[in-house]
Amino acid sequence: MIKRNFILSALLVPAAMAFAQQYGGMWIPTEVNEKEMKEMGMKIDAKAIFDPNKPSIKDAVVQFNGGCTAEIISPQGLLLTNHHCGYSQIQSHSSLENDYLADGFWAKNQKEELENPGVTVDFINGIKDVSAEVLKGTEKLDQKAADALITANVKKVQSTYKLEPHQKVLVRAAYYGNKYYAYLIDTYKDIRLVGAPPSSIGKFGSDTDNWVFPRHTGDFSLFRIYADKNNKPAEYSKDNVPYVPKHFLPISLKDKNEGDFTFVFGFPGRTTEYLPSIAVEKIRTEIDPAMISVRAVSLKTLDAQMRADQETKIKYASKFASLANYWKKWSGEVEGLTKSDATGKKQAYEKTLIAKNPEIKTTLDEFNRLYTAQGPYALHRAYYSEIIRNSESLTLASHYLNYLALAKSGKLDQKTVESFTNRLSRIYKNFDAQLDAKVTARILALYASKLEPQFLPQGFEAFKDETKNLQTLEQFSKNSIVTGRAALNGATASEAIETLFKDEKSLAKALESDPILKLFATLRASYGSASETKFESYQDQIDALQKTYMAQQMATDKDRAFFPDANSTLRVTYGKIAGSNPKDALYYGYQTHLSGVMEKYIPGDYEFDVPQKLIDLHAKKDFGPYANASGDVPVNFTATNHTTGGNSGSPALDAEGNLIGLNFDRQWEGTMSDINYDPRFSRNIMVDAKYILFIVDKYADAKWLLNEMKIIK
Ligand code: ARG
Ligand code: GLU
Repeated sequence: MIKRNFILSALLVPAAMAFAQQYGGMWIPTEVNEKEMKEMGMKIDAKAIFDPNKPSIKDAVVQFNGGCTAEIISPQGLLLTNHHCGYSQIQSHSSLENDYLADGFWAKNQKEELENPGVTVDFINGIKDVSAEVLKGTEKLDQKAADALITANVKKVQSTYKLEPHQKVLVRAAYYGNKYYAYLIDTYKDIRLVGAPPSSIGKFGSDTDNWVFPRHTGDFSLFRIYADKNNKPAEYSKDNVPYVPKHFLPISLKDKNEGDFTFVFGFPGRTTEYLPSIAVEKIRTEIDPAMISVRAVSLKTLDAQMRADQETKIKYASKFASLANYWKKWSGEVEGLTKSDATGKKQAYEKTLIAKNPEIKTTLDEFNRLYTAQGPYALHRAYYSEIIRNSESLTLASHYLNYLALAKSGKLDQKTVESFTNRLSRIYKNFDAQLDAKVTARILALYASKLEPQFLPQGFEAFKDETKNLQTLEQFSKNSIVTGRAALNGATASEAIETLFKDEKSLAKALESDPILKLFATLRASYGSASETKFESYQDQIDALQKTYMAQQMATDKDRAFFPDANSTLRVTYGKIAGSNPKDALYYGYQTHLSGVMEKYIPGDYEFDVPQKLIDLHAKKDFGPYANASGDVPVNFTATNHTTGGNSGSPALDAEGNLIGLNFDRQWEGTMSDINYDPRFSRNIMVDAKYILFIVDKYADAKWLLNEMKIIK
């Protein structure tokens, strides 16, 4: 079955693109299959990608603010990442008067670059397989004792490193705990905003085009790493100087062709490629649909008001984008899992495994029992976590409740209080109590109607009526610190918060009787008693079994090249530039162009407007050296690289290790690749390096930045 699928896929696409990687692959940089990469066209050695002792490409690739990836493209620490990765920084410097989200921002020199307190970048300076050290002595122990020993062993491994103050060592499990790797990390903290195109370029197509190809988005922004006089990490200071990297990426302006080798180097967040079929089926039919349904309601509510009011649009831009992003991804995932028959494929694979090793049947039977028993609790968890995430009132209440618990137990110190006030001020800064009450009213109604009574607080059926909910919430707000007093002070929220937290006793007293806090506490308690413990106890068993199953798959399927699921550590994925044939008689080319931006142009539209200057450049064909042989500027392109969330901002490199694109998305038909990579449909989407330089040069006229870069014509 699997073999047949593979042959079929090879027939559907031109021979030049036959896929070496049936299951995709996100490889630990010290363990890449150099031979295969070279067969596919790579011209450099694997050592050029990651060498712990010499400058290599890894010295130009960083994790950006704990989530995205970014890369250094000049000897002065100039950093390239996605517009959507720098989005909240761009937003935080924006106001109605100076709206950098709408108009873009371009520093004219280093002095004009904007500081971003709290933003960090991480370099990976060493990777070591420490499985033997971490797992030592755990073989015969039960789960709990093994976990304790692993924690102790990890500490021991960490203590063998001599660290400078800005360094840390993270030890991360791979293959579900069958292996462990230690990562030596250097963190830089003075990261300044250098440039960003307007959203009509950087987020062109916005949510309609998100996760979709053909795509026409200039999803990039520029930052710069600053260091102290010794090139070492330092807190922000005006005396800091641009960081001098060990390596930076040259940028290639050569035309791209289908079938060209490419690799992507970055920090993929999370994948689950080795689940049993029952788990995939639960995601497809229960968990994803539940989460999608909550977000659909809140997004619709936010959207209506954001379209009507510019201030709301700015306030909620980042929040909306982040909720919309996974809402859409999950729908694509469900569709893709269905279309690629992920469950059927897994079931067939399980049969072949059992045929080779009958013990695996016991494992799979046990999975079936556990996932079935866990099902209702997992569903409750999905709904519960989504309503808290989608309602700012409930999110706020959860912070206050944590605070209250600490206050009561006498465990509050100055630092903890500060972290609460910071977190709360950040939420209040972009909080509209009335709008959020509408969202909360609606999702609580959904919650009340979707869940069986045994999962709801007593009497919660009354919350099925959203109009009544809204009245209730508005009434609550009048007597609430959570959504009322502090929140209503708007721009001065952080001052209000500070005053509020000065008097610990009266704050605690007021919170005790806060109706919004009480509502949250009731929901929290009922989730806790009905589902949380049961969910977790099943999950512990599932996790332990997944470790066994992972080891069994690796021991049984000798022909398969296994790679560890993504876990936000540095990985290399490689493939070829390729279009696709996602539906019968539908073919996507591998590349889009500026003329396609103009085809999508809808004047004044909030998603498809095009800035006048770009329209003019297109009309005058003022493309400089950035057009293809065809005479059009390439905008986005796709390849077979296996990427996921966290790979945003990752460099796409050519056979020589030059930057040719900036990863920012995947195409709709392939987003199930987090669970079931399918070479027929799974494509990553990148901004063409030519488009980035075209915008920096022709649109922004930021020649001083081009002068820093090494551009290969
Ligand atoms: N889908 C991409 C990713 O997962 C881009 C998200 C940002 N863009 C947007 N329109 N929300 O992060
Ligand atoms: N846009 C995603 C991110 O922010 C990358 C796209 C994907 O999930 O592949 O990481």
